[in-house]
Amino acid sequence: MDVFVIEGGRRLDGTLRINGAKNAALPLMSAALLSDEPITLLDVPALADTRNMLRLLAELGCHRVNESDGPDATRVVLHSFDRAQSHARYDIVRTMRAGICVLGPLLGRRGEARVSMPGGCTIGDRPVDLHLRGLRALGADIQLAQGDIFAKAPGGRLRGARVFLGGPMGSTVLGTINVLAAATLARGETIIESAACEPEVVDMARLLTAMGAKISGAGSPRIVIEGVDSLGSATHAIVPDRIEAGTFMCAAAITNGDIVLENCPIDGLMSVIDRLEAVGVRFQAAPGQDPMHSTCRVTSSRVLQPVEVTTQPHPGFPTDLQAQIMALLCLADGNSVVTEKIFPERFMHVAELARMGARIHRHGSTAVISGVKRLIGAPVMASDLRASAGLVLAGLAAEGTTIVNRVYHIDRGYERMEERLGALGARIERVDEKEVE
Ligand code: EPU
Repeated sequence: MDVFVIEGGRRLDGTLRINGAKNAALPLMSAALLSDEPITLLDVPALADTRNMLRLLAELGCHRVNESDGPDATRVVLHSFDRAQSHARYDIVRTMRAGICVLGPLLGRRGEARVSMPGGCTIGDRPVDLHLRGLRALGADIQLAQGDIFAKAPGGRLRGARVFLGGPMGSTVLGTINVLAAATLARGETIIESAACEPEVVDMARLLTAMGAKISGAGSPRIVIEGVDSLGSATHAIVPDRIEAGTFMCAAAITNGDIVLENCPIDGLMSVIDRLEAVGVRFQAAPGQDPMHSTCRVTSSRVLQPVEVTTQPHPGFPTDLQAQIMALLCLADGNSVVTEKIFPERFMHVAELARMGARIHRHGSTAVISGVKRLIGAPVMASDLRASAGLVLAGLAAEGTTIVNRVYHIDRGYERMEERLGALGARIERVDEKEVE
């Protein structure tokens, strides 16, 4: 198993282009199941999760047809040839929860699906009741058996309906995407109320529209879909990854850095920029550019002010950047408060940061962080993707050596993180764990 060995204390400096978003790429790839014609996606990040999604789609008869471009090529052409197999098996879905997003496309196009029920994960319970409620509202007959979701559209086709997707924690991103995808081929009109407004939902709607779907309102809590009989081919560039961009913003902030992010989706990061500015980070976006593909300079003098952060659905502060900003706030001059409103148990990084000298007290879904003057390198254990990113950031700022174990979590969502940070001047190496014992 690989680990990262980080020598902290280096200031980040340089330019980096933000990759396509993992959380857009995964559902957009599954949209290829909705058409019999090829779908071309550009800027697909080369990640463990996107490779897993390719494997899952291949099992469902939807193949990558530009293999010759190489496994890490960012252009991915998907063609659904064979509609016989509609079973998304447990051994793939358990490694990648986003496997659930084949459910809507399979049901919409093939009239049936069998998808393994994703379990919980280290960030807490991950129910799919809202996905199922939405698809049932479109007429699907859904049964749970042997750990799988068995879904069928009576007569082979769903029918449009009014669907309410609000739950106790707000809306659901992948649930909205599943219902949206299924509704594109339903008979009649579907209205999704309390839809998730995340940029990944908007990107899905853009791709589906390019394929011939009739959708309005994506990005707002009310999406209207007029079902069509079939969808065709399309070419679409994946939206840049706001979480990757936000992670590098925090990396610049915690290392007293001065970096330029290209292809930076500042429009999707307003709440993050707001909080980081309150901490003392400075942002300068090049004028006149598309705010989803901006060039943005991020500088910090590392005189960090404490702030309050509450994670919320978009456009609020994203839960996927909570661990990273917490790592930063460990070094602020005073007490910060971080409240997690999306996944109340998502605090696995707290105990690991404490091993590096951080002072954090957790009370339920709130953590109070008392800033310290310095963090000290230590061996730490990555538990989930974003918690691990937070530990890497802490390691970049810490005195001495930090070893981040179980780097495979990071590889799920950050493409060659060590190379990208290394290019900005960080001292970070990927080594086999046996070499550091
Ligand atoms: N929820 C329900 N019922 C449902 C679905 C969700 O109660 O049927 C609750 C969840 O328990 C949670 C809240 O609703 O409290 C929001 O969950 P959501 O469904 O929006 O999460 P998701 O769609 O499963 C995506 C991202 C996550 C990200 C969340 C929130 C992908 C592949 N995953 O998950 O990303 O944290 O939205 O923004 O898009 C990550 O990238 O590290 C990651 C975990």
